[in-house]
Amino acid sequence: MRRSVVAGMGRYLPERIVTNAELAGRIDTSDEWIRERSGITQRHIAADGEFTSDLATHAARQALAAAGMAPDDIGLIVVATSTPDETFPATATVVQSKLGCTNDSMGFDVQAVCSGFVFALATADNFIKAGQVDTALVIGAETFSRILDWNDRGTCVLFGDGAGAMVLKAGEGEGTSDDRGVLSTHLHSDGSLHDLLYVDGGPSSTGEVGVLRMEGREVFRHAVSKMSAVVVEALEATGLKAEDVNWFVPHQANKRIIDGTARKLGVGAERVVVTIDVHANTSAASIPLALSVAVDDARIKQGDLVLIEAMGGGLTWGSGILRW
Ligand code: ACO
Repeated sequence: MRRSVVAGMGRYLPERIVTNAELAGRIDTSDEWIRERSGITQRHIAADGEFTSDLATHAARQALAAAGMAPDDIGLIVVATSTPDETFPATATVVQSKLGCTNDSMGFDVQAVCSGFVFALATADNFIKAGQVDTALVIGAETFSRILDWNDRGTCVLFGDGAGAMVLKAGEGEGTSDDRGVLSTHLHSDGSLHDLLYVDGGPSSTGEVGVLRMEGREVFRHAVSKMSAVVVEALEATGLKAEDVNWFVPHQANKRIIDGTARKLGVGAERVVVTIDVHANTSAASIPLALSVAVDDARIKQGDLVLIEAMGGGLTWGSGILRW
C-alpha cells in the first residue's frame, strides 16, 4: 500500500519577540491574565515587509535540507494559510518561486484556518496515495498579526506569526498500523458556526482585509469537545488505542484547551507537545511548528506514533495519525 512518509521538518519564527509585558504597556491587560487564561508568555511578530510567503519559504528550505531534497524534487506544494500575501495568487506559488523551483510542479493553498495544516496534510496524502505525485511539501504559515484588532484585548493577546513545513515522500507499506507514514486523516466542518470565529472583511464582501472576531467562551467549548471526538474517531478508524500514541500534537490554541482535551482523552501531560507558551496561537502553523520542535529535541523519533488534532474558524476540525 502506498503511504506518505515524513522525510523532513522545518520551521521559522520571525526575529521579533513581543512579551506579555510589552503588550500590557500598550493595552489594558497583564502578563498574569494572559498566562493564566491561555498559557502564553510571548509571541513572534513578522517585521514590516516580511510576508507569509517569506516565513513559509524559510521553513520549507529547512524541511528540504532535513529531507536531503532539492526544491525541484517536490511534486506538490500545499500551503495552509488564512493570511496569504495577496488575495491571489496562492501563497504556494509564491513559495514555489522563492524556492527557485523550475519543474512546473503544482502549488495551491488550503484555507481551513487553525485546522489548515491537518486539511493540507490530508490533501497531500491523498495526492500521494492516488499516485499523482511522489513528493509533497506541506506548509502551515501565518502572519495573524496583520488581521488582529490590536485594541481588542480579548483576541490580540492570543496570536503570533510563524511557519512550519513537512516534506512527504511516497513509500510502500503493508497496509497496517505498523506502516510508516500517514495512517489516516479525518476532516469536518460546520458552516453554521461561522459567527463564533471569523474575519469581518474580504475581497467579495467589504473589499477590505478585515480583522479577527471571536466568541472566546463558545470557541473554547467547541474546541475541547470537537478535538477530543475527532481523536477518538482517528483511533477507532485505525484500531489503535490512546495508550499506543507516543505523542499528541494538538493545535496550539490555548493551554487550557490543550489540557482540557488531554484530560477528556485520559492522556498524561508527558505525551503532549506544547509550544503555546513561546509561540502563542499561530493558527495553521502551530502543528508543524510543534512537530518540528519535538523532532529537533529528539522527542519524536522514527517509528513513533504521532496524533495531530485541530479546530479552527468555519468551524473546521480534524485529526491525523502518522507513524514517524
Ligand atoms: N486582559 C485582561 N482582561 C481581559 C483580557 C485581557 N487580554 N481579555 C478579556 N479580559 C477580561 C474580559 O473583559 C472579562 O472582563 P469582565 O468580566 O469584566 O467582563 C474577563 O476578562 C473575562 O473574560 P472572558 O472572555 O469571560 O474570559 P475567559 O476566561 O473566557 O478567557 C479566552 C478568554 C482566553 C479568550 C478564552 O475564552 C479562550 O481561550 N477561548 C478560546 C479561544 C481560542 O483559543 N481562540 C483561538 C482561535 S480558535 C482556535 O485556535 C481553536
